[in-house]
Amino acid sequence: MTKQKTSIKLRLLLLIAAAFIILPGFSQTPVITLNLANANTNVSPMLYGLMTEEINHSYDGGLYAELISNRIFKDSKTEPEGWSLVKDNPSAEAAIKLIGAEEHVPNDERRNALNGAMQACLRLTVEKADGKAGIANEGYWGIPVKPSTTYHASFYIKGTDRREPPRWPWEPKPTTPPLPVVENNTPGPITVSIESNDGKTVYATGTINLDKSIYWKHYEVNLTTAANVTPTKDARFVISTDRVGVYYFNLVSLFPPTYNNQSNGFRIDLMQMLVNMKPKFLRFPGGNFLEGPKITDAFPWKETLGPIANRPGHNGSWGYRATDGMGLLEFLMWCQDMGAEPLLAVYAGYSLDGDHIDAGPLLEPYVDDALDEIEYGIGDTNTYWGAKRAADGHPEPFKLSYVEIGNEDWFDRSNSYSGRFNQFRNAIEAKYPQLTCISTIPATQYPSMKVTGKDPAVVDEHYYRNSWDMWENASQYDKYDRNGPKIFVGEWATREGAPTTNLNAALGDAAWMTGMERNSDLIIMSCYAPLFVNVSKDSVTGKRAWQWDSDLIGYDALNSYGSPSYYVQKLFSHYLGNKIVPATVANIPMQKAPLSRRDSAEGKAPKSVPTIFYSATLNDTTGTLYLKIVNTTAKKQEIKINLDGIGKVAPEAALIVVKGDTPGETNTITDREKIIPVTETIKGIKKSFSRKLDPYSVSIIEIKTNK
Ligand code: AHR
Repeated sequence: MTKQKTSIKLRLLLLIAAAFIILPGFSQTPVITLNLANANTNVSPMLYGLMTEEINHSYDGGLYAELISNRIFKDSKTEPEGWSLVKDNPSAEAAIKLIGAEEHVPNDERRNALNGAMQACLRLTVEKADGKAGIANEGYWGIPVKPSTTYHASFYIKGTDRREPPRWPWEPKPTTPPLPVVENNTPGPITVSIESNDGKTVYATGTINLDKSIYWKHYEVNLTTAANVTPTKDARFVISTDRVGVYYFNLVSLFPPTYNNQSNGFRIDLMQMLVNMKPKFLRFPGGNFLEGPKITDAFPWKETLGPIANRPGHNGSWGYRATDGMGLLEFLMWCQDMGAEPLLAVYAGYSLDGDHIDAGPLLEPYVDDALDEIEYGIGDTNTYWGAKRAADGHPEPFKLSYVEIGNEDWFDRSNSYSGRFNQFRNAIEAKYPQLTCISTIPATQYPSMKVTGKDPAVVDEHYYRNSWDMWENASQYDKYDRNGPKIFVGEWATREGAPTTNLNAALGDAAWMTGMERNSDLIIMSCYAPLFVNVSKDSVTGKRAWQWDSDLIGYDALNSYGSPSYYVQKLFSHYLGNKIVPATVANIPMQKAPLSRRDSAEGKAPKSVPTIFYSATLNDTTGTLYLKIVNTTAKKQEIKINLDGIGKVAPEAALIVVKGDTPGETNTITDREKIIPVTETIKGIKKSFSRKLDPYSVSIIEIKTNK
């Protein structure tokens, strides 16, 4: 090198150094260097799954396709909620009454019970007929009407008379005067229809022929809409008569076409959205829904089996009753339909109001119940519960590897979990050594409550955070002990936006997922929560269908949509290799997180958090590299990418981006695709190349290598 060249180089270096000192905004380009030669650690094959429970009308008024709300009249003890009287003409004399719903059913109302599950029913009395009179159901915030669609209606009716019930001579006489006798003249046609809320437009109609019977009989009819019908949810379901009489109704049901035409099945659009996520497992039935407010409200899996006429439903954990139309078999079928493995959570003797059952003899029946439940899922057909499953239509056992013992038992301040967990684990592993039991108390978060004795093989960690906390903690697993239990992140979400999350939340989620992905030797499974939200609001009372803000998939009776977080989930699961690619980074720009009021009062300094997040995985069979990069800022950010340790790399790659103009942007039920992934082909891919990351973006670069 000549003297002159050296001095030019020196001057250049001095100039760059000066730029650093003089221009405070000047920064070096961030660099991600991937070491493909050392991509040896496996990505967990079950990394991305789903978590579900009955919250926000996830099933009733959600995935479970039943359209009639309060179909067995048990939702309220005082009112036939969701039901109303309809009549063509004001001069008709008719009334409806909820029968037998209270705890102490009056004697003369008892003979209307259909079975042990269905003691309540709805009575329609028509004393003077003038046109049609009947009962109407409002559905779950409407009945969805779609063109050329066949709906299957079914219900039980007793068409009877009205006279004073027989009384023993010693029984007290009623205090009110007896109602006039209505003669038993109810047989004949009964009209069944889906119509507008004002009754003026009939979208689909049919009739059944009511038998002359004072006993319950089951009726079914199909209703088909015309091809030119405009989709609406402003509709009701009506069963009506033009004759005087007394009619009792129970288990009134209306199903639209379901996913795979499964009877008692699932809503097609929602199922398709889940299938598109390619989940590897489904954690069910909760969440809080597993535990119930009281011990007696825990998920009653045995009462959720068999015909829906035998399912009484139960008190849910989120302020409304569950029909249990989504029973244990339906959950298992749901997994099967998605190609996902069930991750069964069994009730472990703790409920949300704070009661628990101590380990020992009192807990034994609960342990037995869990063993029965597992046998229903995986026992062969010569076991008691395996045979029951076969009788319910599914002889093949389901696949099962993990059983979770309870849910968030760190809420149980009595410190009883360790004993309870060990009692469940010992019994389950003795009978099913192939199963792994998951503890709901991770020692990392709750050291004083940790399970004693043998360490659990897997623990469940939950994180509900805002985006700043996600960005701050996105690399927390880089530092976790590799000799401890494996981690199942069984509930997590960036909670921004309501009822579904916004773009900023998706940026928090994506950053957090890069951390799980880079550490998926340790994080063997993860699932976002909550999955579903019915976004409807009653226009008159303002009553909302949801209890939890910030959910993944939103819908009303007619439409559905994914939040930006949904698309991030879908892409992360879709574009995933089987090996973790080690990476080093340099020059990642940092930003200051805002101080909480408390931190600022305590005079704390704001924390510095990265603005860019990344992970890379490789499919070592096809040589496809999946590089995920998140830019959380408003700035278009240049980034340099080095691919070390590969032979050749294809010059073109696919780029899939989720992005927006502002962090608060989101999808809604009326603007469902504002933020969706966009795919393009990018050129100039080399062993070392640069890209400009869009502001507020999650980018996935799919690169073909000959690795
Ligand atoms: O996901 C909502 C709730 O959050 C779950 O039911 C519960 O496990 C957690 O506290």
